[in-house]
Amino acid sequence: MQSNSWVPLFPEQASTFAWQVDYLYFYLILVSVAFSIPIVLAIFYFFVKYREKEKYATPDEIHGSIVLETTWSIIPFVVSMTIFLGGAIIYYNQARIPAENMEIYVVGKQWMWKFQHGTGQREINELHVPVNRKVKLMMTTEDVLHDVYIPAFRTKADVVPGRYTTLWFEATKPGKYHLYCAEYCGLNHSGMGGWVYVMPQDEFDNWLAGGGSNQTPVEAGKDLFTNKLGCASCHAGGASQRGAKLEGIFGTDIKLTNGQVVKADEEYIRNSILNPSSQVVEGYQPIMPTFKGQVTEEQLVALVAYIKSLSGNTGNTSSTSTTPTSTSSSSNSTMTNTANRAGNTNSGLSSNPNAPGRSPEPTNRNR
Ligand code: CUA
Repeated sequence: MQSNSWVPLFPEQASTFAWQVDYLYFYLILVSVAFSIPIVLAIFYFFVKYREKEKYATPDEIHGSIVLETTWSIIPFVVSMTIFLGGAIIYYNQARIPAENMEIYVVGKQWMWKFQHGTGQREINELHVPVNRKVKLMMTTEDVLHDVYIPAFRTKADVVPGRYTTLWFEATKPGKYHLYCAEYCGLNHSGMGGWVYVMPQDEFDNWLAGGGSNQTPVEAGKDLFTNKLGCASCHAGGASQRGAKLEGIFGTDIKLTNGQVVKADEEYIRNSILNPSSQVVEGYQPIMPTFKGQVTEEQLVALVAYIKSLSGNTGNTSSTSTTPTSTSSSSNSTMTNTANRAGNTNSGLSSNPNAPGRSPEPTNRNR
């Protein structure tokens, strides 16, 4: 076991969050100890001091003490508020995905973790990331709830069937760190884990370059879109366009036929593929068939990546000049690469009206 943390028994500190979480945790321990020891000592002291010395004695009456009561209210108040504040700051840091990030797609499955990089490399139960870079995981699962947990990074997040969740970290130290599933998910839950390899940027670029000729998620998505699933027959531009426009929509607000306005994030794209009639874009007919059961989670991830790329968002800022496989941006140069990159920032976290499980507003099918 690796352990060169300054707190014994703690895992190594290998992300920008680690010291914050450790300080907070250490503070909690300190507070617990600071309250427990005096209480135990007082129990023994009173136990001796107020033992029965004479039968049926009448004790003196006590009429309260403002000083005492104020003190024992204010001190715990301050203590609990500092715990709250510390927790809130750390939560805020972890929950807010930085705008500039390197995106990696994660699909959980009983009982393995599947990762795919923006350049196409796939990994199972191993994740290679560069040091000192902000990495965003966009995660979902093929079957049941799982939970990505990297103790050395002091971060974890559930992966939930039917929706996307996100997690980010910035590793601070090259090395090999445990990856676990932290949500009981069946027989081999305890075996569902692996390693995160943190590498210096140049080594990472070498590793990335040596991955063979995988399709990038964007390319795979484009292939599905134009060939395998035939989405392009309705959604490609031109006179025959019957489906909603997809270029430049990512991160924008979309007006639906029922008057609702929703944000075009990953969840929205996913839901539009699986439950198209639940969110018909204003001005279009509800003619799109559902693709539920016809696409896997990994294909959905690819489609989402492709549709994001139509808004100029390749989800991969990793490519330095040494990365030879960064073809993703050129592969869709025929599309209008107009709109905003800015929309990518708050993707998975905002409260999402499109999340499955909420019953969608009835759509007006007569339009
Ligand atoms: Cu997957 Cu536990």
